[in-house]
Amino acid sequence: MKKRIVTGDRPTGRLHLGHLVGTLQNRVRLQDEYDCFFIIADLQVLTDHIERYSDIEANIFEVMCDYLGVGLKPENCFFVQSQIPELCELTMYFSFLVSLARVQRNPTVKNEAEMYGVSQMSLGFVGYPVSQAADILAFKAHLVPVGQDQLPHIEQTREVVRTFNHIFKKEVFELPEALVGEIPVLSGTSGEQKMSKSLDNQIDLAHTGEETFVRIGKMVTDAKRAYRKDPGHPEECFAFRYWSIFGPDVAPQVSVECKNATRGCKECKAQLAEQLNKVLHEIRERRAQYAAQPELVWDILATGTKRARQVAQQTLIEVREAMRLSFPHLTKAMRKMSGV
Ligand code: TRP
Repeated sequence: MKKRIVTGDRPTGRLHLGHLVGTLQNRVRLQDEYDCFFIIADLQVLTDHIERYSDIEANIFEVMCDYLGVGLKPENCFFVQSQIPELCELTMYFSFLVSLARVQRNPTVKNEAEMYGVSQMSLGFVGYPVSQAADILAFKAHLVPVGQDQLPHIEQTREVVRTFNHIFKKEVFELPEALVGEIPVLSGTSGEQKMSKSLDNQIDLAHTGEETFVRIGKMVTDAKRAYRKDPGHPEECFAFRYWSIFGPDVAPQVSVECKNATRGCKECKAQLAEQLNKVLHEIRERRAQYAAQPELVWDILATGTKRARQVAQQTLIEVREAMRLSFPHLTKAMRKMSGV
């Protein structure tokens, strides 16, 4: 039997290059080797976007197009978090296994609260890593390919596994492993800060060639190079980082030309945009094909959500039994009443 992958994203908009190198490439590479469950975590949008989300359903569709566009096969199990009530149930059970002090220490949660200026965190917000543990464990994941910012949540998940198995004296769950991509943090077009939609420094997978050109054109390059005739410092240039990631074959040549000032930043960025457009071409074509067939995309998601729910229901039976929350007498009496 194949081992399982569980991973996913919040539907707050389109996915970008940071997602691609941070985790999507891993998912594409591993999709045949593993039985994959991809969660679109709409409930998690309620953590820091509760008053400002645009249309979640439209964003679910965008994320699905990105997934299928990067080459995740439609046969994988794609599903929507809020449509699996068992995940909420499992979150509730897990919430008794984690102390308040423990969730309050989570560095990713703290960063997010700061980034979005949330001063009074809701219970759901501080507790979402526990809900994420439920997402992962309801499907008994072995591997969780994610971006680096998610590592504290995987650690939290592993703690839940240990505590659960220990308290209820049954090995219901196994310890999942995290897997981070080769480029754990990709800087955005604004320079040092990581690529993120809320900073508007991102290149979306779905941007057009022209939009990519404009965004890369504004990119911060080498702060030490004041004039075109000055030699550049590729090792300190943000655009050059992109060359080494997205054009590793040409990067050495770019570096030489930059250092001896035969290449200016403006032309360099124009070429970089072209290179990115080349790298993203196939993804964008495939994405557009799916985006043009919404019914197909929703069907893929419906099929996955149905299958995911069955798997989660199975796990919950085991969980309730381990926790002594299965009541055969009551169940029997209720069956009799409803006539089944
Ligand atoms: N927290 C993830 C993000 O912000 C989304 C997510 C929800 C997730 N549940 C998950 C990721 C389970 C991996 C596994 O993108």
